[in-house]
Amino acid sequence: MQNNVTILNHPLIKHKLSMVRAKSTNTKDFRQLVSEIGGLMAYEITRDLETTKIEIETPIQKTVCEQLAKDVVIVPILRAGLGMVDGIASLIPTAKIGHIGLYRDEETLEPHTYYAKFPANITESTVLLVDPMLATGGSALAAVDILKARGIKDITFVGLVGVEEGISKLHNAHPDVKIYLAALDEKLNENGYIVPGLGDCGDRIFGTK
Ligand code: PRP
Ligand code: URA
Repeated sequence: MQNNVTILNHPLIKHKLSMVRAKSTNTKDFRQLVSEIGGLMAYEITRDLETTKIEIETPIQKTVCEQLAKDVVIVPILRAGLGMVDGIASLIPTAKIGHIGLYRDEETLEPHTYYAKFPANITESTVLLVDPMLATGGSALAAVDILKARGIKDITFVGLVGVEEGISKLHNAHPDVKIYLAALDEKLNENGYIVPGLGDCGDRIFGTK
């Protein structure tokens, strides 16, 4: 596995992911599980965030504590990335949220951008770029290009399921971007869907189709 690429190996994540994958899981449960996995992943991913020392006063005496050194901004790739935001934000309630709207052309699999909006003064923040699916990697790559064009340097991609093709595409173009996935799957099928995967994540989160 490439440097900067981590497949989280956590029993709770595996358990919830098995239910997300099952086609019998309904929209309500799917949406809840995707969000919960987002939260579990956030706990693992934020382990290495920088902290700074600050002096505070407890009811007993002054002491030195640590707080997050940088702002955290969550940036979901629409639509499916939205499904992980609440879970992640429940762990980092002070996080601001940006949005990147991208859809994948069903024929060419090329990403098309239709929206981008970010909090002000985001350049020095830690950005968690969130999209459950890393398939060809085209969408994630386009999103990172957009973030870097805004001057953002500290970017972590957070996804549920990916394949080697998508990981390599993103990693080769942006080796500095940390990639975290809940699972590494086998391959893409002829329609660009992840196998075994979980189907069309956006459609399953929002109940479209
Ligand atoms: C899905 C998914 C990713 C993209 C991954 O979005 O949420 O953004 O496909 O595929 P890639 O790695 O090959 O680019 P989709 O285009 O279906 O849009 P949606 O979330 O609005 O349904
Ligand atoms: N997008 C999805 O929603 N699912 C896949 O398997 C691939 C891309």
